[in-house]
Amino acid sequence: MPITPTAKIWMNGELVDWDAAQIHVLSHSLHYGMGVFEGIRCYETPQGPGVFRLTDHMERLHRSAKILMMPLPWTVDELVDATKEVVRASGLPGCYIRPIAYFGYGEMGLNTLPCSTDVAIACWPWGAYLGDDALTKGVRLKISSWIRFDHNALPPAAKTTGTYVNSSLAKVEALNAGYDEALLLNGAGLVAECTGENVFVARRGRLVTPPLSAGALEGITQDTVAAIAKDMDIDVVEGDLTRSDLYLADEMFVVGTAAEVSAVKSVDDRELRCPGPITTAIGDEYGRVVRGQVDRYKDWVEHV
Ligand SMILES: Cc1ncc(COP(=O)(O)O)c(C=O)c1O
Repeated sequence: MPITPTAKIWMNGELVDWDAAQIHVLSHSLHYGMGVFEGIRCYETPQGPGVFRLTDHMERLHRSAKILMMPLPWTVDELVDATKEVVRASGLPGCYIRPIAYFGYGEMGLNTLPCSTDVAIACWPWGAYLGDDALTKGVRLKISSWIRFDHNALPPAAKTTGTYVNSSLAKVEALNAGYDEALLLNGAGLVAECTGENVFVARRGRLVTPPLSAGALEGITQDTVAAIAKDMDIDVVEGDLTRSDLYLADEMFVVGTAAEVSAVKSVDDRELRCPGPITTAIGDEYGRVVRGQVDRYKDWVEHV
């Protein structure tokens, strides 16, 4: 997915030209994976660009930094303002936004306590992550041979750059095997999540989604979808899922800021009903919610 450059990137309090947003090759986080980041979407609305759950994303960035004991020099409100500034500077009606906080140049070695934190926020146009027709045609999943990292090895609640080694290994393995996306089980053999999405399975009239304890990120889209499902009188529970639950699902979908709501066509070549009626209803409503078209959730859309 090639990046389309935009005008400016916000770095440590200033808007700099896209090409000037550079760091030193000896920057600490490049070597040890100690960075925290977010992926946020901004949608075109009649009132101008609207960033979906921007404050919630910046709050999660702060929580990730807390877990890593990384001091963040900017408050949530300051990061929200900075994001709006960079989106306005891009002139784009809608875009993908990537804030990242990292230990920069100056210290080396695994003790991060003396390190200072740098923060950057970029935005650029980015289409549907799992394909334009992921909601209607669905994606083919493969259970990965890689296992989701354990809570006592790497904390899944922190959206840390280094932990994405696990996701990338699984993603590339799945693509090489001819699938669209990988699904990771945890050390106990229960479903954790996909490489960049949370999982929802419909069985016997209710939706089940694996929680943080199973090794999943606490997804903002997962939370949004749970709220939408409850409005539709669909029972949603956080719970454990085995791979058989996936093979026998009435329908299944995966969710994330980048992938939005993507239907699942098959898991390990076991075909599922795709897209199922719940997937379609929730996916369509999600498309309206993120664009500020549903009154109850208008406050989730933060205009720039
Ligand atoms: C590993 C992983 N799980 C789940 C998600 C979905 O999270 P969100 O809905 O907050 O984008 C993401 C995306 O950031 C992710 O990278």
